[in-house]
Amino acid sequence: MELAEKIDPTLDLAGEIVRLKKERNAVILAHYYQEDDIQDIADFIGDSLQLAQAAKSTAADVIVFCGVHFMAETAKILNPSRTVVIPDMDAGCSLADGCPAPEFARFRAQHPDHFVVSYINCSAAVKALSDVICTSSNAVKIVSRIPKDRPVIFAPDKHLGAWVRKQTGRDDMVLWNGTCIVHETFSERKLIDLKVRHPQAKVIAHPECTAPVLNLADHIGSTKALLEYTRQSEASEFIVATEPGIIHQMEKYSPRKKFIPAPGEDESCNCNECPYMKLNTMEKIYAAMRDLKPTIEMDEAVRLKALKPLELMLEWSA
Ligand code: 13P
Ligand code: SF4
Repeated sequence: MELAEKIDPTLDLAGEIVRLKKERNAVILAHYYQEDDIQDIADFIGDSLQLAQAAKSTAADVIVFCGVHFMAETAKILNPSRTVVIPDMDAGCSLADGCPAPEFARFRAQHPDHFVVSYINCSAAVKALSDVICTSSNAVKIVSRIPKDRPVIFAPDKHLGAWVRKQTGRDDMVLWNGTCIVHETFSERKLIDLKVRHPQAKVIAHPECTAPVLNLADHIGSTKALLEYTRQSEASEFIVATEPGIIHQMEKYSPRKKFIPAPGEDESCNCNECPYMKLNTMEKIYAAMRDLKPTIEMDEAVRLKALKPLELMLEWSA
């Protein structure tokens, strides 16, 4: 039986979630790509770095992580005494899934003298094989901290890696060949079409986009950085080259500004939406809080190895 069939359709889900939050002493953390109704019941909305910091410092007993698996796993690594529940265990990420730990270990072994920087969009097992973790908001800062005479491996996003390589001038950087299935679909040609039709609009893009798309951007940054830019900019129109879930907060902060989602190559497929993020629903959040499952569990040895590079990231981005 499908989950939705088991839940009374007349139930006030938002009200029940608030009730369970008190009963369980829970905090709801949500990423900007979540559906609007989920963002509206969250205690905290943020980018990957902000969510990791919030998970580490929370006093709540239960963390309800409305995002994808690697984010919830990061919360557990940083705060293991909390129960971390995720509404849908299948909420993966093409970057994390495209970088299996055994293959990554072989890749690393081919470059034994390299300093290993892994984007937070990877599994705990890959984090455990890394020297430092980064997010899109601190990647340039983190890579700039690595001594110049030390070559660098950057995994698993080759587009973010190429952008960081350009920003830092670290031409020695070796990239793992991974991509985000959402950000790589933004079309350069369609973006140029949109720019022609909206000449006043600023183009804002996430660094997981391809180089031709990033070359068209007026501002590049993490989800939080893009949101901040739209709040502070004097422009009144923005073409948004990232997952359109972020537009909910952009419209809340700047109700008089116009936000145009950048299209994917094939406009009929909603390819600019993250299918993993969108697996989470209010019904699943309610059920996860009611049943306290599914929970994130992991091997303690792996957790401790993954914690080290995560702590170094937090130290270097402070
Ligand atoms: P941010 O850290 O910028 O929110 O990015 C997370 C992500 O998965 C982007 O696709
Ligand atoms: Fe992963 Fe891309 Fe979805 Fe972000 S948008 S969670 S990088 S698949």
